[in-house]
Amino acid sequence: MAGATHTIERLILPANESDVRALAGLLVDAVASGAAVSFVSPLTLEQAIDWWRATLADAHARAIFLVAREAGVIVGTVQLHPAWAPNQPHRTELVKLIVHRGHRGAGWGARLMHAAEDEARREGFRLLTLDAKRGAAAETLYRRLGWTYVGAIPRFAVDTDGVTPHDAVIFYKELE
Ligand SMILES: CC(C)(COP(=O)(O)OP(=O)(O)OC[C@H]1O[C@@H](n2cnc3c(N)ncnc32)[C@H](O)[C@@H]1OP(=O)(O)O)[C@@H](O)C(=O)NCCC(=O)NCCS
Repeated sequence: MAGATHTIERLILPANESDVRALAGLLVDAVASGAAVSFVSPLTLEQAIDWWRATLADAHARAIFLVAREAGVIVGTVQLHPAWAPNQPHRTELVKLIVHRGHRGAGWGARLMHAAEDEARREGFRLLTLDAKRGAAAETLYRRLGWTYVGAIPRFAVDTDGVTPHDAVIFYKELE
């Protein structure tokens, strides 16, 4: 699937309006698909736009936002947020890996994860951490990409229906 029209790049900040809308569309699609990405259903496009604007505006100076594009259109994203703690300058948290439903199963998720690792390494991070919903596609992806499973936390969050609890699985990856 790789080609000149398929790219993964860092989002240039401040993000332009059409990219913010596309990122919001990804978040809305993920929630509509039942994914555990912080929100419950229904999430409106306006709410998602507000969340993205605030997230981008408040981001740590070393935060990394990656976007996957097909012919210029954003089809996936992932974020790296450095640990705030002064004694963890080497650690960054990976969050909100999302590929639009219309583009899943084509390798974008794995490519975004590889790109996130590369960017983290380039920025001097040595430890990546993340959590995911137990049993979700993302858990399979993280295991396949060599992330180390730490354990599970029962009833960590609720599904997009707002009531059904699910467990979280915690992973880390040390970078050479
Ligand atoms: C998780 C997600 C990003 C994967 O994106 P994707 O582009 O479809 O993933 P890829 O095509 O790169 O697949 C890579 C591997 O992930 C695993 N995987 C992907 N989809 C899967 C599914 N539905 N069930 C089980 N494993 C799956 C497989 O191991 C796959 O490798 P394979 O195709 O060789 O078997 C995508 O499903 C998504 O956006 N989900 C909703 C958001 C979400 O839950 N994000 C995670 C938050 S922690």
